[in-house]
Amino acid sequence: MTKIISGFSKLTKQEKIQWLSENYFSSQPEIINTIKQYWNADEKLQQLHDDFIENTISNFYLPYGVAPNFIINDKDYVIPMVVEESSVVAAASLVAKFWSTRGGFKSEVISTTKIGQVHFMFEGDKAALTSYFNQQKEYLYKATSDITKNMIKRGGGILDIELVDKTDKLDHYYQLHVTFETKDSMGANFINSCLEAIAKTFRKEDIEIVMSILSNYVPQCVVRSEVSCKIEELGGENPQQFAQKFKQAVQIAEIEPYRAVTHNKGIMNGIDAVVLATGNDFRAIEAGAHAYATKSGSYSSLTHCEIENGIFRFWIEIPLALGTVGGLTALHPMAKLSLEMLQKPSAPQLMQIIATAGLAQNFAALRALTTNGIQEGHMKMHLMNILNQLNASKEEKEAMVAYFKDKTVTHSAVVDTFNEIRN
Ligand code: MEV
Repeated sequence: MTKIISGFSKLTKQEKIQWLSENYFSSQPEIINTIKQYWNADEKLQQLHDDFIENTISNFYLPYGVAPNFIINDKDYVIPMVVEESSVVAAASLVAKFWSTRGGFKSEVISTTKIGQVHFMFEGDKAALTSYFNQQKEYLYKATSDITKNMIKRGGGILDIELVDKTDKLDHYYQLHVTFETKDSMGANFINSCLEAIAKTFRKEDIEIVMSILSNYVPQCVVRSEVSCKIEELGGENPQQFAQKFKQAVQIAEIEPYRAVTHNKGIMNGIDAVVLATGNDFRAIEAGAHAYATKSGSYSSLTHCEIENGIFRFWIEIPLALGTVGGLTALHPMAKLSLEMLQKPSAPQLMQIIATAGLAQNFAALRALTTNGIQEGHMKMHLMNILNQLNASKEEKEAMVAYFKDKTVTHSAVVDTFNEIRN
């Protein structure tokens, strides 16, 4: 029997949970308690979260950690990170400390413009369309004046509107390709509202608007962050060999897509964690970053490395469309706190911080991969997850950590040893 329901959104939260429990958890009435366990006791705060989306029945916790000791452009930062994967925050902290004594991270914003498009179909004469566009252009700007007024005061707005012919790729397909500067806001609502106003003014009998929407591909909203030092300052037993192997690992990711995807995933471990902590849109950031990674025509690394005249240099170049005002950044109390922790950055400063978090994460991964491998550190952190699953007490955890200090952590070894200790 299907369980299709009409009017679900109109039910109260309690009724929604009841319906869910009866229809999908009939033999597990305890799920009602699990769901309620994650409600916030502060009703106002709970209501705030309920209202972010639809059909909210509970909250889903992710750990909120902090990575201290980041020096970016000679300023020190503690970076907030929201992430479920063990080792990510530890790696960021270790690498931040490492580079803090080697000049820190240097970061610069290369560009900050964003793109939106009105996609439309036109079957007539191209010259007539071009002349209509040229004659309409000033009215297209005027059509958005109510929306752009405040943004212009802040130094942003619409930078350009271009007519683009795409008919060689798809019959009758043209675009209005619009470039925006959105200053400290991510600008999604602003861009989409402008585009819809432009489309409304531009449409006529023989112009069929298909859709108007921003692009999450932002190759003109790019930041670069880097570290560098003399090879011998890298430390360790053989810094020369370390630097060479590290560079080879980056070169492999530059030319081998299978490796590049994992390499970039590691970068996004750091980036997404800060994007989430600051209430930004991690899906937009992910989509834009991976698209940028294919800009040469083949998927490649977002970081690069060079060794020249005895200097080791490692950098990231990544598009990041971020906001430090508007959206969730002001609404979510923890996002607000994160931005305060980061000393209320502008959007370009946040781009620098977040790119740096990605670079640090990648440095940690490549350092581990090209030396001891990552499993050693990972499994040590994973030990705690397994122990929590086993409901280990504080004393049992201490005993287990001491036992595995010099041994390889595997799931079965942890379970066997745990059972022995408990018995
Ligand atoms: C794991 O989440 C991330 C790594 O696989 C990244 C990498 O391989 O570079 C360790």
